[in-house]
Amino acid sequence: MAKPWTSVLLQLLSCAVVAFGLDVTGKITWNDVCPNVTTLGQAKASLDNSIFSGGVTRHGNFIIPDVPDGTHVLSIVSHDHFFDQLRIDVNNSLSSVEVRPFLPGTPMNPPSTVLLPYPVILTPRERYVYFVPPESFNLAGMLSNPMMLLMVGGAGMMLAMPYLIKNLDPEALEEFKEQQAKLGGIQSALQSGDIKSGLSAIMAATEEQGASGPQGQPSKGGSGSKARTNKKSRR
Ligand SMILES: *[C@@H]1O[C@H](CO)[C@@H](O)[C@H](O)[C@H]1NC(C)=O
Ligand SMILES: *[C@@H]1O[C@H](CO)[C@@H](O)[C@H](O)[C@H]1NC(C)=O
Repeated sequence: MAKPWTSVLLQLLSCAVVAFGLDVTGKITWNDVCPNVTTLGQAKASLDNSIFSGGVTRHGNFIIPDVPDGTHVLSIVSHDHFFDQLRIDVNNSLSSVEVRPFLPGTPMNPPSTVLLPYPVILTPRERYVYFVPPESFNLAGMLSNPMMLLMVGGAGMMLAMPYLIKNLDPEALEEFKEQQAKLGGIQSALQSGDIKSGLSAIMAATEEQGASGPQGQPSKGGSGSKARTNKKSRR
């Protein structure tokens, strides 16, 4: 009666022993990149994308408990620091843990012939840089922006307009004013919803332009020069 009980108990115990795997232990050695645990901040040692993991103590030690048989990838998950990843081969029946270098993206087999010491030793490789310096104010860059060029050009035209008008021929000025008035009339007609009169104003304007197009040009030039000669003769 007692014998089967003990064998069952033994089997249960052996099952328990198999189920609880080895602990993988290691240490982070501080260096210039990361001199202490305060600088390291939140971090944990993680196997196989955090399926198994363990915290990092003040002195940089970590323990990942109950790791089952097989090949695992060890990494230190840290917000600010980059660590190498390592390949960990655990064999619980031999109580052996083998550490090898691991490069993400490379095949697991055949395993590297390089064996690293166990317990694992990891050093912080570099600090992640999240801070992107803001672009400094650059006048030339700002002016090379086409929108800016348009705006500056427009402002320049507005400022130059009074001088341009002052220097115009009285005749040309008259014409310019007429055109402005016509445009204003069309605009106000369209804005007030009087589409019919607006359209007729546009038609009238285009007709006039067509009439004074090819033949109108030389006669205008002629009268302009006449006006100028008149001015001269007056002086
Ligand atoms: C950790 O290192 C940083 C940078 O050298 C230092 O400013 C800080 O005082 C250190 N903290 C501790 C607890 O030693
Ligand atoms: C552990 O080692 C033993 C003895 O070398 C071997 O028979 C067994 O297959 C190994 N287990 C694993 C998971 O590699």
